[in-house]
Amino acid sequence: MTQWIDVAPLDDVPARGARMLKTAHGCVAVFRTADDEVFALDNTCPHKQGPLAEGIVHGKSVTCPLHNWVFSLETGMAQGQDVGQVATYPARVDAGRILIDAAQLTGRAVAAE
Ligand code: FES
Repeated sequence: MTQWIDVAPLDDVPARGARMLKTAHGCVAVFRTADDEVFALDNTCPHKQGPLAEGIVHGKSVTCPLHNWVFSLETGMAQGQDVGQVATYPARVDAGRILIDAAQLTGRAVAAE
């Protein structure tokens, strides 16, 4: 069941940028495209744990700041020759606020235990 929670105003995340946002279910990296779409992913790069929220957002992708692997913000899949996937969580913008599906974040916490 989808359970949208309000995590921050859209303006807290710069366009073509990202920020770590705190939720009641732990931190999540939120990325904002030039078109004001938002995507929520785990912050940790599957290569060597680079902080993806410090990466470069281009189109609907992010480039990891450590070794330049590129991940789709929509699927979390590594692009090109690289292999790996980052967990993604449903996110949307409503009335200038960022909403994330808490049910998915809760599932993540359980899975990590
Ligand atoms: S840690 Fe992200 S590309 Fe190496």
